[in-house]
Amino acid sequence: MLIDCDPGLDDAIALLAAAQLTDLVGITTVNGNVGIDHTTHNALAVTQIADLDVPVHRGAARPLIAPTIDAAYVHGPTGLGSVELPELSRSIASDDAVGFICDTARAVDDLHLVAVGPLTNIALALRADPDLPSRLGGFTIMGGGAHAGNVTAVAEFNVWADPEAAAIVFREFPMTTMVGLDVTHRVLMRPADRDRLRAAGGPAAGLAADLLDFAVARAGEIAGRDGAPIHDASAVMAVVRPDLFRGEEHPVDVELAGTLTRGMTVVDQRPRGRAGEDAGRANARVLFDADEAAVVNSIVDAVIALDSA
Ligand code: RIB
Ligand code: CA
Repeated sequence: MLIDCDPGLDDAIALLAAAQLTDLVGITTVNGNVGIDHTTHNALAVTQIADLDVPVHRGAARPLIAPTIDAAYVHGPTGLGSVELPELSRSIASDDAVGFICDTARAVDDLHLVAVGPLTNIALALRADPDLPSRLGGFTIMGGGAHAGNVTAVAEFNVWADPEAAAIVFREFPMTTMVGLDVTHRVLMRPADRDRLRAAGGPAAGLAADLLDFAVARAGEIAGRDGAPIHDASAVMAVVRPDLFRGEEHPVDVELAGTLTRGMTVVDQRPRGRAGEDAGRANARVLFDADEAAVVNSIVDAVIALDSA
């Protein structure tokens, strides 16, 4: 697995789970939740705290066309809540995330590319190597939503942050597994999960507990929820345990020009036979539901196991 991310509280938990559950061959960073300096620093800090032998390659500092934004109101000014990070003893393997994605897709058989931030690096990788999709074993994103938005009424943050990149990705990958808000809002991590991580006591579990502390408190303030959707870790679990998720294949495209709807993933759920001329080919497997308890317990178990790996 190669994860392209914008750590980010949930990105960080996704990296920890992936490190335990998959052969995580690399991490690429992108501007998103916070600026590229912070997202890259945070990715390095996660690998250092959890003692992961995984290279970090720095990527795009801004979207293709859209203005640079952030989600610091959700993730805190540094991107990892109020977690005290250690002095970094690690540095990036390169500042060429796009080259690393393309080279790794060529070198590693059955590579699963998982993008859990804005899709800028992925769109640039498609421009560098139009055959990228055929070199991959699978492609999954955390992003979008058929019936949900978070940063606007209809747009999810990763797609909204760089909608031109998202449009390129949906149009040029023959099949994308879309782990959107429809399913991630049904998979919440709660104080009891944080307590289980805290009680385990290892460095990765302790970091995840600290991240969850902040995420659960902020989710309560913003949405009045009793838990936090750990969006990106759900995307990793959709790759590792697809049996825990329910989805459907539909045509998906991204609105770029709408005044109210820019950044919306338009999911065409009309019955195929009656969709008429304008229905495109199904280019996405859109996930709608999951076994919440099984997904959350798998994430917690994986992070705890990482400390004894
Ligand atoms: O909308 C949720 C997504 O936006 C997650 O990937 C989160 O980390 C932010 O990037
Ligand atoms: Ca993210």
